[in-house]
Amino acid sequence: MMGSRTIGGVATAGDEVNYYVDRTSELKIFDETKLGVKGLVDSGIPKVPRIFIHPTVVTAAVNTHRFVFPTIDLAGSRQDPSRRRQIVDQVRQASESWGFFQVINHGVPTSVLKQMLEGTLGFFEQDEEEKKKLYTRDVKKVLIYNSNFDLYSAPAAQWRDTFYCNMAPVPPKPEDLPQVCRDILMEYSKHVMTLGMDVIELMSEALGLGPRHLKDMDCAEGLAILGHYYPACPEPDLTVGTTKHADNDFFTVLLQDHIGGLQVLHEGQWVDVPPNPEALVINIGDLLQLITNDKFRSVEHRVVANRVGPRVSVASFFTTGMTPTEKVYEPIKELLSEDEPPKYRATTVRDYVKFFGEKGLDGTSALLHFRI
Ligand code: OGA
Ligand code: NI
Repeated sequence: MMGSRTIGGVATAGDEVNYYVDRTSELKIFDETKLGVKGLVDSGIPKVPRIFIHPTVVTAAVNTHRFVFPTIDLAGSRQDPSRRRQIVDQVRQASESWGFFQVINHGVPTSVLKQMLEGTLGFFEQDEEEKKKLYTRDVKKVLIYNSNFDLYSAPAAQWRDTFYCNMAPVPPKPEDLPQVCRDILMEYSKHVMTLGMDVIELMSEALGLGPRHLKDMDCAEGLAILGHYYPACPEPDLTVGTTKHADNDFFTVLLQDHIGGLQVLHEGQWVDVPPNPEALVINIGDLLQLITNDKFRSVEHRVVANRVGPRVSVASFFTTGMTPTEKVYEPIKELLSEDEPPKYRATTVRDYVKFFGEKGLDGTSALLHFRI
């Protein structure tokens, strides 16, 4: 007879089978609260429920001061040609080796950054009944708030709640956005779009292409904003805020508050991205790695859980996401040669995002699926 047996007090595989039967109903119960991880923490749970427990223990970053996370000062990039050449060099180096860098003097006013973090916090801290009405997994909704977009497909749940909203090329009607963050979402998007255009120009030049090349390919056409809320965690070693992953877009602009927890995999080590609420973190996504034929790297990163919280971050994804489009992306011809044959097959943004979403954050790279 199958079922749970124990040998010398140790649970056997039979218990595991039962666990996975229970797991699905535990996920469902959690999902149906519509209050996410914040709801669990507000109810005062002293332990991390088992649906959130990750198989591998998450250890702190081995941040030996061997690595200095790159910071690029964008001041003068438009006015001073020799300064611009230096900036383009820094963008090239960081995009090739780290896939990540932080920018200062980026042109987005500090007051806008501050209000965007406050608006995100305000969203998650709004009245519970109002917030529950916005909880959904329907990708056709204007604003999608839920906990763990991959709750039912990922091996373990993450200690985080998120809202998601497409801002470009088709902006939402402001009245369809929650009042608590409506104005700042519209305002912040405008600024991030301008910065995105600057960044993509620098990246084009860093690849040795004309400044408009990536823009003309519509790499900065679509923008999706994700507001993340990472509640304080009673047992941070058992779970993670965001599982190790690479982003499924062209590039991401990330705003984080003062708490920290974001880590980047660099030369086999997890390196902390130092929190600086005045800076913006930029990282290369999978689609930019694909079209640059691996010249620029979409690097894995994660967010560790923390006893201190909540932590708030806002990720601006340059992508058209699941919007239907005919546009096909493949390695840029100008970057190919006899010694540099294409490494990826062509895809639409939608097909890439769909594959990524169905797979969920399971610790593996979605890019491998598109590799020739
Ligand atoms: C993401 C991400 C990091 C953070 O949204 O893809 O990696 O600090 N976010 O929230
Ligand atoms: Ni990411």
